[in-house]
Amino acid sequence: MSTVLEVNDLKGYYRHRFEPEVKAVDGVDFSMAEGEVLGVAGESGCGKSTLAKCLMKRFKKPLEYVDGEVILNGENLYDKEDKDIKENYLACEISYVPQSAMNALNPTLKVKRFIWHLMKSHYSELTNNEIMDRAMSRVEDLNLPERVLDNYACELSGGMKQRVIIMISTMLNPTLLIADEPTSALDVSTQKVLVKMFKKLIEEEIFKSLIFITHDLTTLRHACDRIAIMYAGRFVEIGTVEQIVFDPVHPYTEALISSILVPEPGIREKELINIPGTPPNLKDPPPGCRFAPRCNYALEKCTVEESEWVNVKGRPVKCDVVAKKKGDGSDE
Ligand SMILES: Nc1ncnc2c1ncn2[C@@H]1O[C@H](COP(=O)(O)OP(=O)(O)OP(=O)(O)O)[C@@H](O)[C@H]1O
Ligand SMILES: [Mg+2]
Repeated sequence: MSTVLEVNDLKGYYRHRFEPEVKAVDGVDFSMAEGEVLGVAGESGCGKSTLAKCLMKRFKKPLEYVDGEVILNGENLYDKEDKDIKENYLACEISYVPQSAMNALNPTLKVKRFIWHLMKSHYSELTNNEIMDRAMSRVEDLNLPERVLDNYACELSGGMKQRVIIMISTMLNPTLLIADEPTSALDVSTQKVLVKMFKKLIEEEIFKSLIFITHDLTTLRHACDRIAIMYAGRFVEIGTVEQIVFDPVHPYTEALISSILVPEPGIREKELINIPGTPPNLKDPPPGCRFAPRCNYALEKCTVEESEWVNVKGRPVKCDVVAKKKGDGSDE
């Protein structure tokens, strides 16, 4: 399958005057294939939402670009002017369902007006009927009642609002959809409905690939093909759902899986274990591996230099110490 997205050594820091910079995204690399759903999981504050902004080249003060590349369909977004990104990439190539999606709708516009403005700003030649036809087909895809198009945001339930945001975010059939905690504010049955919607939309090629950000590994298990585990601004392991959930390799992934609160059949039948300590302050992260101060396997060298990516049990892991214990340790 063809590569849709390639991300190399991406870095974005928050910079406030007179304060140390916050290294929120600090060297992220991964790639994604067409049709793939990649989950991004990690504790609160590890940089997931900041990563989403960096992937879209959406830098608003105090967030600043520091380094790296985001190559979408062969084009590096960081070689492009901001105007080009705004007009030709955001919403049509990369679309975003923000973490606070529930509040993202303009309260003074009916849903159909919102859609009309979006479609007209990209395709001025479309007639009103064509826009409404596209909106109606998306309403059906998302199992929404037809009336939502005539509603204001305040007239929608939480679950409906979430689906309306997804409808709006996918109106222009983006290559990549980034959904930031799309299920966190929903009850369990609505979460399941939403995960099914995402699968259907990707099967129907409404969008080609999905990055599903959440701290909820149980949801990711049902939603994704692969899961990337993020810790303190960096990815530490990327594997299939089976690999990450049932056979984690990186000590942080192992600890995260062991600390899942809701035991699902087959997921975590072992004792619930708290991860000792707290994630580092990203204003002053420890040198070397950022998980080393909390890690049972850490050697002295881990506190000096971070491991390169190594291949362990068929997936990339940033820990050469466990590579020697658990796998072949060959380089990626
Ligand atoms: N405007 C800001 N100024 C300074 N630091 C910030 C700012 N916004 C976020 N941060 C810091 O950047 C880091 C990453 O934040 P981010 O929101 O990306 O985390 P997250 O993984 O999405 O967390 P959550 O799971 O709670 O949504 C955190 O340490 C956070 O405190
Ligand atoms: Mg977030």
